[in-house]
Amino acid sequence: MGLMHYFQFAVVFLFGLWYSLWVILHLFLSFIKGPITFVTNFFKKRDVMPPCLNDPDLGSHDFVHLEDVRLHYVAKGDEKKPLMLLVHGFPEFWYSWRYQLREFSSEYRVVAIDQRGYGDSGKPSGVKNYSTEKLTGDIKQLIPALGYSRCVLVGHDWGGAVAWHFAMRHPEMVEKLIVLNCPHPATFASYMRKNREQFKKSWYMMFFQVPILPEIAFWSNDFQFLERALIGKNGGVKSDKTTAADMEAYKYCFSSKGAVTNPLNYYRAAFRYPLAKKDIRLIEKPTMIIWGCPDMALNKELVPLAGKFVPDLTIQYIEDASHWIQQDKPNEVNKFIWEFLNK
Ligand SMILES: *[C@@H]1O[C@H](CO)[C@@H](O)[C@H](O)[C@H]1NC(C)=O
Repeated sequence: MGLMHYFQFAVVFLFGLWYSLWVILHLFLSFIKGPITFVTNFFKKRDVMPPCLNDPDLGSHDFVHLEDVRLHYVAKGDEKKPLMLLVHGFPEFWYSWRYQLREFSSEYRVVAIDQRGYGDSGKPSGVKNYSTEKLTGDIKQLIPALGYSRCVLVGHDWGGAVAWHFAMRHPEMVEKLIVLNCPHPATFASYMRKNREQFKKSWYMMFFQVPILPEIAFWSNDFQFLERALIGKNGGVKSDKTTAADMEAYKYCFSSKGAVTNPLNYYRAAFRYPLAKKDIRLIEKPTMIIWGCPDMALNKELVPLAGKFVPDLTIQYIEDASHWIQQDKPNEVNKFIWEFLNK
């Protein structure tokens, strides 16, 4: 890592501190509005698993032991069928793929994982355990552990980033690549530096670099951050598909020990151990991006920039879908995926 990298990280961290002031103010205001509720909310227990997480219609739960972590996954569909691997984003878990587990199990062995640090998967400590190296390493070990040599790889948000990186590193293990609402990793940083709107939208990434305060903000007001992110009116589109029961499932998932810090560590690792030029390789496999347009975190102009790194690229926009596209507009997303797979 060069001097330039340390300088960039220092700038990002300073912005993180600046945003922290605003978050502290926000937390203080909600504290004085109702100090007792504010405090008791931090101690709210969620010990009972919401029934929707055990819905047999979504598949069966299992674990796989990899080199340094145990991953939890939900699988549906015949083991003789080809593998479709679903990788969720932040702040989510396997349950984000409930509509795809049901849909594609007719033709695929569909496996939705909890990425390391999430849900019922192992949660190794420290930032370095969440580097791209580790995240793609899990997928590399997982595919043979499930009895396959390749898969249709589908990733959303952070899972999309992992999928992009994996396809660059291990193309022989990817049949087709499908990425939902995640820009190509080689395009994001330089675009963000040049585009003020994207820079502003990325404030939370900088805020997450600060220790412990992001965790507190995430937990506060009974996971208000999570609730606003997933079902708030962000980007001008409100999902009506995600129900109160689904929301409770998310809160349950983020209630266990380390369930917030480790997902945040993905962002911390990304800024501390950034991409090297040598990691960027052309992806020759057929690739599709599906993009929900009014994304509160990512500009639409990022999407076509991927074309430079992916010769065989299909892009599908869904104009009225939020960032949480596979839950928001499952019918449209599934239709695009079928078309792409049957091509
Ligand atoms: C990675 O996680 C393991 C298991 O929790 C831990 O023993 C190890 O120290 C961690 N590595 C770093 C660099 O934090």
